[in-house]
Amino acid sequence: MTHGLDVDGLKIRAAASCDAPLFAALHASCFVSRESPEGIGRWNENEPWNESTMAQFIAGPRTVCLIAAIAGDEPVGFLIARAAADEAELLTIGVLLGHRKRGIGQALLREAVAVLRPGGIRQLFLEVEETNTPALSLYRGLGAVPVGRRPGYYENGADAAVLRLDLQARP
Ligand SMILES: CC(C)(COP(=O)(O)OP(=O)(O)OC[C@H]1O[C@@H](n2cnc3c(N)ncnc32)[C@H](O)[C@@H]1OP(=O)(O)O)[C@@H](O)C(=O)NCCC(=O)NCCS
Repeated sequence: MTHGLDVDGLKIRAAASCDAPLFAALHASCFVSRESPEGIGRWNENEPWNESTMAQFIAGPRTVCLIAAIAGDEPVGFLIARAAADEAELLTIGVLLGHRKRGIGQALLREAVAVLRPGGIRQLFLEVEETNTPALSLYRGLGAVPVGRRPGYYENGADAAVLRLDLQARP
């Protein structure tokens, strides 16, 4: 689960209901906001990523909600994926600035795959703004391939790239 990892003591765990405020805070810190446009990463602003939404994801019967924490249980990243039938979609993933490019994103994604695959999920879809090089590198590094685009998906008019990771083809 930790290929290429450069973090001592990284732990990845499933979120509990009490983690909803933490998820909302991590999301706000990891993503661009109108107030802080220098951040990296953009989300579909039609989705309200607040505590209430996060609580619903965590309680969802077919969602995978993970937290990455480093030594001392300091949360540094998170991931939410949702399954339907034999497919799943990565809804969001983020690692705090200052902890990026150390393998934490990859460890989160690998753990999500490890949870989804035994449940019969065959493919994981990933949507990302076409200019989001870090996320594209992460996804493609794990073997995801581009399968389409969603023009104007983001509020700023940017297009989304859609990638697919074949879970059954992987060891
Ligand atoms: C995308 C994100 C989660 C990646 O997390 P991370 O912990 O930095 O990723 P990793 O360290 O596991 O890196 C995974 C791969 O991507 C590459 N990568 C990461 N950041 C990169 C960057 N800025 N430029 C180029 N490649 C990058 C790494 O080199 C690594 O490739 P490798 O395995 O060949 O070495 C993080 O950049 C982030 O939180 N971005 C903001 C939120 C976002 O955009 N989320 C995705 C859309 S939902």
